[in-house]
Amino acid sequence: MIVLGIESSCDETGVAIVKDEKKILANVVASSLKLHSRHGGVIPEIASRMQLESIAGLFTEAIKTAKIRPEQIDLVAVTTHPGLPGSLMVGIAFAKALALSLGKPILGVNHIYSHVYANVLCHGNIKLPVVALVVSGGHTSLFYIKDFSKIQVLGQTRDDACGEAFDKVAKMMGMGYPGGPLIEKIAKGGNKHKIRFACWGTNAELDFSFSGIKTAVLYYLKDKKSGIKLSKDLAASFQESAVNVLVKKSLLACKRKNVTNLLIGGGVAANSCLRQKFMASAKLEGIDCFFPNINLCMDNAAMIAGFGGCLYKRGARSDFNN
Ligand code: KG4
Ligand code: ZN
Repeated sequence: MIVLGIESSCDETGVAIVKDEKKILANVVASSLKLHSRHGGVIPEIASRMQLESIAGLFTEAIKTAKIRPEQIDLVAVTTHPGLPGSLMVGIAFAKALALSLGKPILGVNHIYSHVYANVLCHGNIKLPVVALVVSGGHTSLFYIKDFSKIQVLGQTRDDACGEAFDKVAKMMGMGYPGGPLIEKIAKGGNKHKIRFACWGTNAELDFSFSGIKTAVLYYLKDKKSGIKLSKDLAASFQESAVNVLVKKSLLACKRKNVTNLLIGGGVAANSCLRQKFMASAKLEGIDCFFPNINLCMDNAAMIAGFGGCLYKRGARSDFNN
């Protein structure tokens, strides 16, 4: 089965073609990130305007890269939620028009769950059940997955998402957007034990809270005069605390659910400190830890096409008639 996937939930526009739920034939992405960086965050109107301008060209490019004819597409899968309404609308309208003109079915797909599925694209079928952590700019959630069509939420952030905290801390420190990769880079030469930030903050053992650490960084910056060295230490200390809580709660979730496979996905999963800490800690607990390749951690349409194909095969259908 050949699935064409469309992703337009935030600032990226992606079109991908995936065969048999796993084989990526094409995966093209255009980003309006540069246009947002001087504003310190995504401006929805700029994002959707760029998506409108780029989506048709990306479709043509994907078809060409995959070396298929449009009639060979068996299913159109598109992100329907969650995301910026104006951005989602661009992808959904394009997907509907395409499916209608080709006479093919269309399936709406959850963006967050697709981040987990990116692991299947990279590692093949992973034995279920698993615990999954999605850490992105908009979400920080833990899931229990026995079957990809019945995903159970174990915990989520009560306030800011982890990536959002990276972005806001970077902004407070006078860096650009997105902040995650910039914090990672500057943290490399810093002392991660210099400042102790607490990042537990919720009563529910598998929920997260990142607004407290963000405020702690703000007060720290107000109190101290920040030089180059301090910035490095601050970035390293913040990253250390944020990553530690993700690792501890994810491993706790594995313990609670008695599973030995842990899947991690979303933009923050590209962070090398996070990847190393997860690998090392999981190994000690006898847990196998999986990450997508870096390009599949970020928003992309291959995960939408793959997950869409997987759900369609299990009987999922969408009604786009209204
Ligand atoms: O999954 P994603 O591309 O979009 C959403 O669905 O939100 O994630 C984007 C988020 C941003 O907050 C960005 O700062 C963060 O992922 N991010 C990182 C890194 N690369 C991207 N955070 C920490 N370290 C990184 N290397
Ligand atoms: Zn995402």
